[in-house]
Amino acid sequence: MTDVADRARAGFDREFGGSPAGRWAAPGRVNLIGEHTDYNDGFVLPFALPLRTVAAAGPQDGARWTVWSELSGETIEFGADEVAEPARVTGWGAYVAGVVWALREAGHDVPGARLAIASDVPLGAGLSSSAALEAAVMTALVDLGGLDLPAERQPRLAQRAENHYVGAPTGIMDQSAAIRCRDGHALFLDCRSEEVEHIPFDLHGAGLAMLVVDSRAPHRHADGEYAARRRSCEAAAAQLGVRALRDVGVDQLDAALARLDDPETRRRARHVVTEDQRVLDTVALLRTGRVREIGPLLTASHVSMRDDFEITVPEIDTAVEAALEAGALGARMTGGGFGGCVLALVEADAAETVASAVAAAYADKGFQAPAHVTVLPAPGATRLD
Ligand code: GLA
Repeated sequence: MTDVADRARAGFDREFGGSPAGRWAAPGRVNLIGEHTDYNDGFVLPFALPLRTVAAAGPQDGARWTVWSELSGETIEFGADEVAEPARVTGWGAYVAGVVWALREAGHDVPGARLAIASDVPLGAGLSSSAALEAAVMTALVDLGGLDLPAERQPRLAQRAENHYVGAPTGIMDQSAAIRCRDGHALFLDCRSEEVEHIPFDLHGAGLAMLVVDSRAPHRHADGEYAARRRSCEAAAAQLGVRALRDVGVDQLDAALARLDDPETRRRARHVVTEDQRVLDTVALLRTGRVREIGPLLTASHVSMRDDFEITVPEIDTAVEAALEAGALGARMTGGGFGGCVLALVEADAAETVASAVAAAYADKGFQAPAHVTVLPAPGATRLD
């Protein structure tokens, strides 16, 4: 397949004629650690993937947007009416229309545009293809229109597009990763203040590799379960009288849990509070270059997601166990759960052995064969030309 940026340009030329005014790329992400902490005002540590979505864009008169996507092969068109209120555009176009809606809602004079979208971020693998699409479109429109919207304010608007226009109650992690990540670094984000610190994450220098295994697990009611987890966390915070679970420290955890009478709510809260601490511990190790030592934190995060937050599935647990047995230093599911990908931190020369062990464990259980790739932290959204 040709390069994704070339495909976006070729799509623009074929659909609209001529050259785009520019091309903007935004990446998919994996989350190193800090799962389901973002909507609890907590901490996350994602990094951008080298897989990107590219928007080739050019101006169009009036408040009209025409968008071609290579994934569906369709061209959709919408105007001011469709972005006046949420959910008027559906399907993949909702992510694009949602960005226009959120920008306009925030008072920006969004330029009419033609956009051609191509992507290497697989859909449905938990790598945030939706945030990559939102970020590519947002950065394109901000630049085309010369809008006064610095990068640090863009994730909140992209999240609003997803929450209110598309209707998915996600946190701010994925959009922040797509927009704010830096090459070679993980993004340490405080989801309350939206302050970030770029944490060097030099896998190569440490002789390590990050294996990403796509579990290929079919999504099982992921949307409903996500919303249910969010409600449990909000209920726990309300019962504890705090603004969000972020406000409970690990040193206060036992006392807090004793005040929650529902055992399920207790487990959910314990995951979030301990997970925030694991992010802080991971950051502390990475700040001093102790990359190898983060493995046990990754594995502890997985155990917490499996037993307390209950968002893993058999394929995912099998991949984690097989990776650890084959010598991974740490392994965990990444993303919202109920499928998606597993991360395994491995010695650089052991990546293929670990991947084969996961594939063998899958074959034993009769699961659909997993896919895998090794990745290094890549840059966030950028203008290509
Ligand atoms: C999905 C959501 C994020 C975050 C993760 C879980 O990726 O989009 O906001 O909540 O799940 O950490």
